[in-house]
Amino acid sequence: MSQEEVSLEARLEEQEAFDPPESFVEQANVSDPSIYEEFEENWPECWERAADLLSWEEEYDTVLEDGDAPFYEWFTGGELNASYNCLDRHVEDGAKNRAAIKWEGELGETRTYTYGELLNEVEAFAATLRDLGVEEDDVVTLYMPMIPELPVAMLACARIGAPHSVVFAGFSADALATRMNSADSEYLVTCDGYYRRGDALDHISKANEGLEDVEHEVSDVVVVDRLGDALNHSLGDNQHDYDELVAEHEGASVEPVSRDAEDMLFLMYTSGTTGQPKGVKHTTGGYLAYTAWTSHSVLDIKPEDTYWCSADIGWITGHSYIVYGPLALGTTTVMYEGTPDYPEKDRLWDIVEKNRVDVFYTAPTAIRAFMKWGQQYPDQHDLSSLRLLGTVGEPINPRAWKWYYKHIGNEECPIVDTWWQTETGGMMITTLPAINTMKPGSAGPPLPGIDAQVVDAEGDEVDAGKAGYVTVNNPWPGMLRTLYKNDERFINEYWDEYSDADADEWVYFPEDGAKIDDDGYITILGRVDDVINVSGHRLGTMEIESAVVGVEGVAEAAVVGGDHDVKGEAVYVYAIPEDGYEPNEDLEEQVVEGVVDAIGPIARPEEVIFTPELPKTRSGKIMRRLLEDIASGNELGNTSTLRNPEVVDDIKEQVAGD
Ligand code: WT7
Repeated sequence: MSQEEVSLEARLEEQEAFDPPESFVEQANVSDPSIYEEFEENWPECWERAADLLSWEEEYDTVLEDGDAPFYEWFTGGELNASYNCLDRHVEDGAKNRAAIKWEGELGETRTYTYGELLNEVEAFAATLRDLGVEEDDVVTLYMPMIPELPVAMLACARIGAPHSVVFAGFSADALATRMNSADSEYLVTCDGYYRRGDALDHISKANEGLEDVEHEVSDVVVVDRLGDALNHSLGDNQHDYDELVAEHEGASVEPVSRDAEDMLFLMYTSGTTGQPKGVKHTTGGYLAYTAWTSHSVLDIKPEDTYWCSADIGWITGHSYIVYGPLALGTTTVMYEGTPDYPEKDRLWDIVEKNRVDVFYTAPTAIRAFMKWGQQYPDQHDLSSLRLLGTVGEPINPRAWKWYYKHIGNEECPIVDTWWQTETGGMMITTLPAINTMKPGSAGPPLPGIDAQVVDAEGDEVDAGKAGYVTVNNPWPGMLRTLYKNDERFINEYWDEYSDADADEWVYFPEDGAKIDDDGYITILGRVDDVINVSGHRLGTMEIESAVVGVEGVAEAAVVGGDHDVKGEAVYVYAIPEDGYEPNEDLEEQVVEGVVDAIGPIARPEEVIFTPELPKTRSGKIMRRLLEDIASGNELGNTSTLRNPEVVDDIKEQVAGD
């Protein structure tokens, strides 16, 4: 590095606040700071601004219906169709030939769908689904990787009013079966396989294995042929080839069905404290208005932009900010099938350069990997098209933030660090890119209209700098409406902690720790439940534990998250072998495989530590905090209150020895 560069690095390292560049502010969708007051004074009617971004078939009568809180309803009386809002209206407005999706496969092939073409394929597939017997309100499961047929299928479902339930393609056969069972889903759309690091990956075998464990009859399975000759597969009795069906229905015209604003648009399963995944229910009006509004105000998306969110559509980030938000605004959304380091570690920057990407949204775990690989990779590319950067999924450490700011944004792009959850539907806490000063490591203030704060265990707001818990006092349009067929769990999980039901005062509890500073900026500290965040993906430790104890030879287990340089957190398994079983490499391998089989490769344990006992309190509770500290290599606090303090040294030695 030259002298000049060294001093630049040093300056950046010390700088704690960054203002958006004037050039950004001048062109931003939202740049008037009075929006915070406007929303506060005018709540809940302020949310009409979000609803106004959509085309309604029937105007709503009431913005917020809170008579049966916390079962809130938004834009009641309104009717609309999500696929109409994401497709037809743009075509009608003359954007037929604008690119809607620009897709790139891992091997380098590309496909562009204009709005006109996307609408045609969505209609053809919607007609297909109808012919197969899919009716309004039937849940269709989509078990697909990052191929264009996934958003096509989502929008086709939306068109006929059939809620989709997308299962992340990296999840296991078991996970697919659990979700199809839970949703009573009788239809599956999947594919033969996809590419990972240049290899053709078999997906259909996993799908078929999952189907065997579905308890009800599955009437039809549609299979996209992604791999052609690279993978030969045969179709079973009720299985159909996607291309054939779509060809048969080419040119079909399918009227978008009118959906009530509160009708379910989709279900998305996410991990919680107990072993059973939660089916988060999102609706048509509120969710679509909220994702469109946050795409407009936070991501600053304009129709003429090329926008890229590098998440997977199998997670909520992809639903809200690859598919629904961006397409509702009529922009061009980029999709990439593969890994960021194939064939080289500059793959993402190559995609940014080729497509002249304006806005880029990714996860801190990816940024930490880019940092590790080195700046020579982005340096090889012209990234000057970028105007705004975003992150989501986990806390971003200031070093990674500054690296992103300098090496990707060239110190010219604001960064939005957006805190939200599967349940919130869209962003909740983040700076508005043209309005607020950015503070690396802190997500920022709650968005206009979002009444979030940091409280102590009693629900009182904490002083600046003190750790507490995030809570949200007012509802918002993108919020989950319930957990699918489980209203009771919905209340228990999110509302019981801080609400006063008798006084009809409802407080949403996201189960995240946080602190707040004097300017009202919130820094998220991470989950406070038994959920860990691996590479921005939420995994329930209980689900992993039940996979571990399902392995023959394991008597008891505790699973915790430990700090990891790139992944943020990684999975650590502490296991007690059963009598007669040796804690050897074989058993370790079986534990690892057991977890991967039950959940998927994202849950692959970083380490499996066998121990004759788990550290327990005198009352017999496993000391998870202590196991987390050991896994993270932290200083250990007082262990003398344990029933069995002697196991601690033994475990520590093993972790250090590995
Ligand atoms: C959990 C939600 C939001 C879509 C992706 C994950 C953590 C999310 C941030 C952020 C710190 C964050 C929280 C949250 N999280 N964004 N900007 N800073 N933490 O969705 O799987 O529902 O996970 O991710 O812990 O509760 P999810």
